[in-house]
Amino acid sequence: MSERLYIFDTTLRDGEQVPGCQLNTVEKIQVAKQLEQLGVDVIEAGFPISSPGDFNSVVEISKAVTWPTICALTRAKEKDIDVAFESLKYAKRKRIHTGLGTSDSHIKYKFNSNRNEILDWAVSAVKYAKKYVEDVEFYAEDAGRTDNEYLARVIEAVIKAGATVVNIPDTTGYCLPQDYGNKIKYLMEHVDGIEKAQISTHCHNDLGMATANTFEGIINGARQVEVTINGIGERAGNTALEEIAMILKCHKYLGIDTNINTTKIYQTSRMVSSLMNMPVQPNKAIVGRNAFAHSSGIHQDGVLKNVQTYEIMDPKDVGIDDNSIVLTARSGRAALKYRLEINGVEIKDEDKLDKIYQKFLVFADKKKEVTDDDILMLAGADTASDH
Ligand code: KIV
Ligand code: ZN
Repeated sequence: MSERLYIFDTTLRDGEQVPGCQLNTVEKIQVAKQLEQLGVDVIEAGFPISSPGDFNSVVEISKAVTWPTICALTRAKEKDIDVAFESLKYAKRKRIHTGLGTSDSHIKYKFNSNRNEILDWAVSAVKYAKKYVEDVEFYAEDAGRTDNEYLARVIEAVIKAGATVVNIPDTTGYCLPQDYGNKIKYLMEHVDGIEKAQISTHCHNDLGMATANTFEGIINGARQVEVTINGIGERAGNTALEEIAMILKCHKYLGIDTNINTTKIYQTSRMVSSLMNMPVQPNKAIVGRNAFAHSSGIHQDGVLKNVQTYEIMDPKDVGIDDNSIVLTARSGRAALKYRLEINGVEIKDEDKLDKIYQKFLVFADKKKEVTDDDILMLAGADTASDH
């Protein structure tokens, strides 16, 4: 019997903080619905106190999505928590995510405070949020650089105050995998009452370690991971959802499963990339253009003899099923529509589809084969109002 790992997606909060990636409410609803289809357990829909737009997006996502828990971020401030609760009023399942920095540099430079005061502040915030909702997640910002003994005291106190999930962010992406794994292990072994809460990872990728750190967190007992589609997020980004989901699928013997329908990964990746104007690097694991392309002669020869020689995953398992429908100047509207859908762009309006199709025919006449990037470029201007 496998153990369950909960997927907390923060594409619409930590991911959307990136300059140039901002989405309007309609676009956020589209992404949230796609995340629901993908099978994520929790959608962090925004930071409601930060702007009326963010508040409104959390309200509308709460109405549009039924299955996943909707989570709203707050600082450890009563006003933030009041506003977060208000924004979640239509959510079927709601969570407030509150917290503050616990590393010495945050305590000293951000708060001009001391460890005892910060601990009391954390407890008060959790108790305050608990008046509104049962499901309260606490984050210890910069936990990656927080002294383990003090971190354990804070985590123990917030669990006693009612936190149901405790988030251990490596906010600056500083940790090495072994250190991050040991931090989670330390908490598992030294926090009284840890079994009453779920430990969550939240790793940033400044040293390219986000996925490795998250994985070490899982191995040492974390049962929720905070991730984004394509690994987007502040600076070098967050842990990529698709990498964690596929690591666990490829290594079934670990006995840890998610609810992710991996065949929706590619579609979701393309949707987020095109709506956020954030291209995916070609060699990005799982979803990059070259992730399943074999170009050297030796590899091609091997793959033609048996795909297992150089492929550890079936591209179909991540929703890349495409070689069946290749676009050329002879392709019809249905094929174009199908390929756009695989790429996360749904065209419901026949007139719009026709406009894109006419542009496609002119373009395809000049090119032997039209790629996914080509059709996304062709559809770009005309799909804006569909999103
Ligand atoms: O990286 C971080 O510490 C965060 C918290 C606000 C959860 O994003
Ligand atoms: Zn973060």
